[in-house]
Amino acid sequence: MNLSAEEMRKKVLEIIDPWRGREGGLIPILQALQGAMGYVAEPAVKIVSEELKIPMSEIYSVATFYAQFHLTPRGRHVVRVCRGTACHVRGSLKILDAIKEQTGCAENGTTEDLRFSLEPVACLGACGLAPVMVVDDQTFGRSAPDGVRAILEQFL
Ligand code: FES
Repeated sequence: MNLSAEEMRKKVLEIIDPWRGREGGLIPILQALQGAMGYVAEPAVKIVSEELKIPMSEIYSVATFYAQFHLTPRGRHVVRVCRGTACHVRGSLKILDAIKEQTGCAENGTTEDLRFSLEPVACLGACGLAPVMVVDDQTFGRSAPDGVRAILEQFL
């Protein structure tokens, strides 16, 4: 979501106001920021830091500790490729490479047009379908590198 500086300030103040003078607000605040903006944007962190007198370094150490927080914008679709053992043995690296080649997306990166984010992950719990890729919440099992294009085209 693209907010102007003024809109962002308003949104951030709305999120942090209930936490003024209270302990334990940092994680719920970060969750709410991410929910509102899609990621934990630096200008928003700056406002939280100034308003709640929490050093930026402390906010970032919490945000980077938890995998749930993203510090850069994410794509509209998140593509996960399983890199667990069963999927690896059945060629998930080639699927990952095919996705990188077709989207120009780096591992753990996002395409410039914000269409896709690409995340290699450990076992997705569907080893019988190896190799597995997941786009948003749709699972594609027994996938093959030459089938990647058709899968990605479903997500415009
Ligand atoms: S190793 Fe890929 S789903 Fe389990």
